[in-house]
Amino acid sequence: MSERKILVTSALPYANGPIHLGHLVEYIQTDIWVRFQKQRGHCCHYVCADDTHGTPIMLRADRENITPEQLIAQVEKEHRADFDDFGVAFDHYHSTHSPENKELSALIYTRLRDAGHISKRTIVQAYDPVKKMFLPDRFIKGDCPKCGAKDQYGDSCEACGATYSPTDLKNAVSVVSGEKPVEKESEHFFFNLADFSDMLAEWVNQPGHLQPEVRNKMAEWLENGLQQWDISRDAPYFGFEIPDAPGKYFYVWLDAPIGYMASFKKLCELKGLDFDDYWGKDSAAELYHFIGKDIIYFHALFWPAMLYGAGFRTPSAVWAHGFLTVNGEKMSKSRGTFIKARTYLNHLNPEYLRYYFAAKLTAGVDDLDLNFDDFSQRVNSDLVGKVVNIASRCSGFIKKRFDNTLSAECAEPALFQQFIDANEVIAALYEKREFGKAMREIMALADKANQYIDEKKPWIIAKEEGRDAELHAICSMGINLFRVLVAYLKPVLPVLAGNAEQFLNIESQSWPATAEPLLNHAINKFKPLMTRVEPEKIAAIIEDSKENLEKTAEAPVKKHEPIAETIEFDDFAKIDLRIAKIIKAEHVEGADKLLQLTVDIGDETRTVFAGIKSAYAPEDLEGKMTVVVANLKPRKMRFGVSEGMVLAAGPGGKDLWVLHPDQGAKPGMRVK
Ligand code: MSP
Ligand code: ZN
Repeated sequence: MSERKILVTSALPYANGPIHLGHLVEYIQTDIWVRFQKQRGHCCHYVCADDTHGTPIMLRADRENITPEQLIAQVEKEHRADFDDFGVAFDHYHSTHSPENKELSALIYTRLRDAGHISKRTIVQAYDPVKKMFLPDRFIKGDCPKCGAKDQYGDSCEACGATYSPTDLKNAVSVVSGEKPVEKESEHFFFNLADFSDMLAEWVNQPGHLQPEVRNKMAEWLENGLQQWDISRDAPYFGFEIPDAPGKYFYVWLDAPIGYMASFKKLCELKGLDFDDYWGKDSAAELYHFIGKDIIYFHALFWPAMLYGAGFRTPSAVWAHGFLTVNGEKMSKSRGTFIKARTYLNHLNPEYLRYYFAAKLTAGVDDLDLNFDDFSQRVNSDLVGKVVNIASRCSGFIKKRFDNTLSAECAEPALFQQFIDANEVIAALYEKREFGKAMREIMALADKANQYIDEKKPWIIAKEEGRDAELHAICSMGINLFRVLVAYLKPVLPVLAGNAEQFLNIESQSWPATAEPLLNHAINKFKPLMTRVEPEKIAAIIEDSKENLEKTAEAPVKKHEPIAETIEFDDFAKIDLRIAKIIKAEHVEGADKLLQLTVDIGDETRTVFAGIKSAYAPEDLEGKMTVVVANLKPRKMRFGVSEGMVLAAGPGGKDLWVLHPDQGAKPGMRVK
């Protein structure tokens, strides 16, 4: 096995919020892979950094009345502590707001510019006239131009899934000031991604660079043609000013991946490594980026093109993982399943989560679910019930009867060898990021070790006279098997492994490809290595996550859409609102948002289609009174003609409330 030179990264977390359990899927996945490589004796460096630039960070600092520099320093401290406590061991953790990153970003940009890959063009963008800043799509809200859903972001509608440009939004407001945005021109810088179409087609299709499912997606994008990428933002912006363009800044996503290089550059300085060995065009080192599936475009297209265009090497592979759900649903602040790393750490052992994620991770991009019942069950049964149990079953006799020293001979050399021979299969699975499969192999060995002890029944032998040597041999065998298991689990459970090494009185274990049993070897006192998951702790995490929400909820500038323009009474009088009784409510075949209502409005009945299916079941509505707009021009819809409109309030989804009149109001009465 010759030594490999490997550089590994995880995506750089944004410096505008805390690390949560979703993030940790990625950092734990990467950390396990890196620890595995190191344990195998390879030269492997793991770097990361905070991603500090951009509008959200600038605005949050603004709101908190601190400078962006103060904000990112504070967040970096918290991020580092969270990673440390979860055992995520970067070789260097840097910041994109660093001299190294500034210099490298300028270098890459000027190289791309000088090679003709940058163009300039004037574009029109939404502008906040009060805050005097251009507004990113996410900072504009309004009504969806397609379905009319309220309170939608400037780029896409959560209600109907439509995507559009922010200028299409109806009743648009700036999230920053609550004002109506205006359109304003400005010159922007673009990276000509299409210059790299051929290079990218080759890179993407080269086996090993991307996972097959990701490669297919990229091939689709490539076929559709590559657009120019807007890489500049106007002041005010927290970022790096573009070298030849005062008042223009690099878009955060331009300098973010360069942050990988910057972090490594700093590591080179600290450890005397050669930067070009890893990033030079002809580098023989391996370079891997672990990322979430949401940021593939940046890493599989922009990034290789930027590197190539600027004369650097391209990645050996980009590995995407799926998203974390909790108890089967998207993490949710109201359900208490948007769990911060720190909240978890306040209650539970981080290695439980490391093991659980490992047990569920594959090399694919499928989402993975944290189900708390499953979590407790796996940790309790695998780690506590199987692995640690072996040591606790055997160590007592070794201590009481044999002076804490293992026997001089191996009782079952063949069984021991079986454990060692498994190393190749397990290593191949770690290498391929099939951690779930690796855990299953290891647990199958743990089952074997327990079976061995069950068969030999040391607790019975211990009571019989003259069988001391046998007892000694069996328990020593158990301890030796335990030791191999711990070596295999070490990338996942570094703390448990460290404590086990202390108990076994051995040096830090390398990969046990050639390990021999410990014979005639003194061990230390056994201390419980892991305890069962306590259900109250899980409940407490969920409870605290709900509390966090109230404490840290960001005060929006305005909670509701602004009050509409003033109207005359006559304008209001034009709207004929009537009390109505819902006599029938039914599903509409093929419509996923609508209910068909038959309403009695006094002298006639009407059919009204209402987009309230997400919030009401038909039987909740039948017999109820409500208010309808009775003189609205009938509207032909795909499913029939709607002869009015039911009044309802709320942002949408489950949060929609139909209006009901007070008791006594009768169908047909006019509301005025
Ligand atoms: N700052 C960018 C990355 C720049 S890399 C040059 C970013 N930051 S992030 O904080 O939003 O996310 C960091 C990483 O965590 C991303 O790879 C992202 O996919 C991952 N995850 C964030 N939420 C996640 C889940 N709920 N589940 C799994 N991974 C998640 O993106
Ligand atoms: Zn919509």
